[in-house]
Amino acid sequence: MKKLSSSEIRQMYLDFFQEKGHKVHPSASLIPVNDPTLLWINSGVATLKKYFDGTETPEVPRITNAQKSIRTNDIENVGHTARHHTLFEMMGNFSIGDYFKEEAVKMSYEFLTKELEIPVDKISVTVFKGNEDCPRDEETAKLWEEVGIPRERIYFLEDNWWIAGETGPCGSDTEMFYDTGKEPCSDHCDPSCDCGKYVEIWNNVFMEFYKHEDGSLTKLKQQNVDTGMGLERINFLLQGKTSPFETELFIPIMEKLAELATNPNETSERIVAEHLRATMMLISDGARPSNLDRGYVLRKLIRR
Ligand code: ALA
Repeated sequence: MKKLSSSEIRQMYLDFFQEKGHKVHPSASLIPVNDPTLLWINSGVATLKKYFDGTETPEVPRITNAQKSIRTNDIENVGHTARHHTLFEMMGNFSIGDYFKEEAVKMSYEFLTKELEIPVDKISVTVFKGNEDCPRDEETAKLWEEVGIPRERIYFLEDNWWIAGETGPCGSDTEMFYDTGKEPCSDHCDPSCDCGKYVEIWNNVFMEFYKHEDGSLTKLKQQNVDTGMGLERINFLLQGKTSPFETELFIPIMEKLAELATNPNETSERIVAEHLRATMMLISDGARPSNLDRGYVLRKLIRR
């Protein structure tokens, strides 16, 4: 695998997709514009929903970005696991009615194995198991097999479905996992397991539905692709570290905290480091602590 810094990975990602006809969009503010369904920008697609639901047409139907994002639903886990962050950067490539499953899978495979040089035997994938709204995704499983992922590392799961909020564009997804080499925790250990053997590195969402307030789904007028790869995560895996806190993205903050701590505790220092980074980004994007909504989340981060 290539040893890279986070800046190099971000640049490689944007260059790779630009080369494949994608227009590079800069990261937008963490505060959503004209979107009452979201408290924060929580993914690369969150700022592009207007294209996915067909409200607006982009200049070119292929877009790539590295978007700062906030997710606070797993806030209690931050610092205790390698995977959880409130602030992270999500790199993504998007197709607005242009390529769909085949090209998305091929490009993901090429980027992981040729650009990042991740050995194929370290990669497992999951695809949608199917339900009454959308059939089992055999097509994507076949595509993974064709590019080189053996059947035994292709898992069909119910949870392979993604939506940015409660309503809006959504669809089934296929996720890529990196095998850390840890021993399986049981005979049933697979990528859906939380034991840390498999770490999700990339998600490709095949957005072809719109979810309405009453919970019903209708087909979008076009088939879209939305993908997301967390920079902090792929960075620590490629560097052979066990968490992002051991990489250049956190080391300066961790060192300063260790210097200031009167009662050193690594978990607490990780929480403080992560929440400081998130707080700084939120305030610089215009959020202010208060008792309500966004301000309340920010206040909670500062308090923790
Ligand atoms: N929007 C998708 C996600 O965040 C790619 O997982």
